[in-house]
Amino acid sequence: MKFFVDTAETKDIAELAATGLLDGVTTNPSLIAKSGRDFIEVTREICGLVDGPVSAEVVSLDHEEMMREAEILRKIADNVCIKVPLTFDGLKTCKKLTGDGTMVNVTLCFSANQALLAAKAGATFVSPFIGRHDDNGFDGLDLIRDMRLIYDNYGFETEILAASIRHGVHVLECARIGADVMTAPPSVIKGLVKHVLTDKGLEGFLADWAKTGQKL
Ligand code: G3P
Repeated sequence: MKFFVDTAETKDIAELAATGLLDGVTTNPSLIAKSGRDFIEVTREICGLVDGPVSAEVVSLDHEEMMREAEILRKIADNVCIKVPLTFDGLKTCKKLTGDGTMVNVTLCFSANQALLAAKAGATFVSPFIGRHDDNGFDGLDLIRDMRLIYDNYGFETEILAASIRHGVHVLECARIGADVMTAPPSVIKGLVKHVLTDKGLEGFLADWAKTGQKL
């Protein structure tokens, strides 16, 4: 499973990229606003920090305007992935852009039928929002299961990019189901390495090592 980080904070991205475990980055207008940075400038910086896809989202609702914005965004760097909303205008934009060889992430996916449309529009990635689904009384992981089944039934190459991940159990279940990618905030990714028995075991090993009086 590929790991993307869901943030526009360049310090966090650089720190995770240095582990060699980061495959890409996702941003959205809320994350850009939170960063307080200029959209183009911060996106350019992020694209230089990772080799993989960096999702940058259009902010118009109309197809022609989305195409105009996508043109600006895709000039930033070769690894920009244009993010469009799951609307008919977004899907039309997706079809056009992927037809021209541009990566597209169709976002705000909340149903398997929406995911089917995104795949038919040739999306590179589709982003089902697990956490927000759960928040509204649905099972976000059921959506991932349905999508995996449908995409495999028809051999769609669109990658399932599990988004709105809130904790490690979401990550684990997405891996069990076979989501292609997951994007999570830096805190969730950093939390995956933590285990109380790892800490305890390490503490014991280091204490015993100190008793030997040896050095490496
Ligand atoms: O970037 C899209 C998605 O991951 C948003 O997550 O936590 O705002 O629901 P969240």
